[in-house]
Amino acid sequence: MTVQHSDSILIREVGLRDGLQAEQRFIPTEQKVELARSLAAAGLQEIEVTSFVSPRAVPQFQDAKEVIKILGHPGNVSYSALVVNLRGAEDAIAAGVKELQFVVSASETHSQKNVRMSISEALAHGAKIAALAKQNGVKIRTALATSFGCPYEGFVPYDTVYTLMEKLFAMGIDRISLGDTAGLGNPKQVSELCRGILSRFPDAPCSLHLHDTRGVGLACVLAGVWSGIRVIESSIGGIGGCPFIPNATGNIATEDVVYMLESMGLATNLDQEKLLASAVFAEKILGRSLNSKQLALLKSRHCNN
Ligand code: COA
Ligand code: ZN
Repeated sequence: MTVQHSDSILIREVGLRDGLQAEQRFIPTEQKVELARSLAAAGLQEIEVTSFVSPRAVPQFQDAKEVIKILGHPGNVSYSALVVNLRGAEDAIAAGVKELQFVVSASETHSQKNVRMSISEALAHGAKIAALAKQNGVKIRTALATSFGCPYEGFVPYDTVYTLMEKLFAMGIDRISLGDTAGLGNPKQVSELCRGILSRFPDAPCSLHLHDTRGVGLACVLAGVWSGIRVIESSIGGIGGCPFIPNATGNIATEDVVYMLESMGLATNLDQEKLLASAVFAEKILGRSLNSKQLALLKSRHCNN
């Protein structure tokens, strides 16, 4: 695991990828780059910035190559990309990506709707992607989507998640992100699944990726952290949502997660003022108000002044 100290939590920022993928309006490349750099300036060390997928499926990421090339490798931050197939991984590596996350779904229906593959086909791509990444010295992670429930199939049994994780770790995956893609999980379930995982894979490098669809996102973060998870994925301003999920909503907001963890004495090593400035900038480039408690507080402070 990247995080060694038990009282610190690594925050992995996914707003530029998970956040922007459902945005209809194309956000200019230079604004994406500026947002990525402002997030890095707030101290974020892992920032997922784009996807190498079909530009027809997700037009927002038609500039994936440019974004990666412009951001480069500043040393203090890893700018990573998401892929769903081998072609995307080849393109991403050719563009200079040093950290890749590929998607496997824990439910067949979501897998078909999202990547038009069965789970076993996605795993077969995953094995090739993992091998390619290793050959090129690229870190390779997996987003295990719908780990806490599928909007089409309902509850996903814990054993399904354990079995998939076993297969993924056998491929040499560096870290698995447990995704609550449709925001169906609850704190009890997060706690049970995370404890089950950590008892089966004691040193398992895992992260939690939660969507606050039903208002229990932060409670689920807490359940995960208290169960031993030390990496949380979140999105600045709470933007996001899978375009291949009905009624998808955003991730938990980075600034709200950081506030909660820091106020409990769990270090994130992030600058909260700078994070808020990034959230304000995200509002500016998206042209609308975003849905985080910290942003709402900031605005009410301004109104009262
Ligand atoms: N990069 C760019 N284009 C790609 C691509 C990639 N990694 N993978 C496939 N394509 C293109 C193909 O060239 C083809 O284009 P064309 O219609 O102009 O010829 C088109 O996508 C369909 O390709 P095909 O191999 O038939 O794939 P498919 O239709 O079975 O599946 C996906 C298409 C899944 C690759 C595509 O829908 C996709 O990229 N979806 C994005 C999924 C996503 O981002 N989900 C959210 C994250 S969890
Ligand atoms: Zn997501």
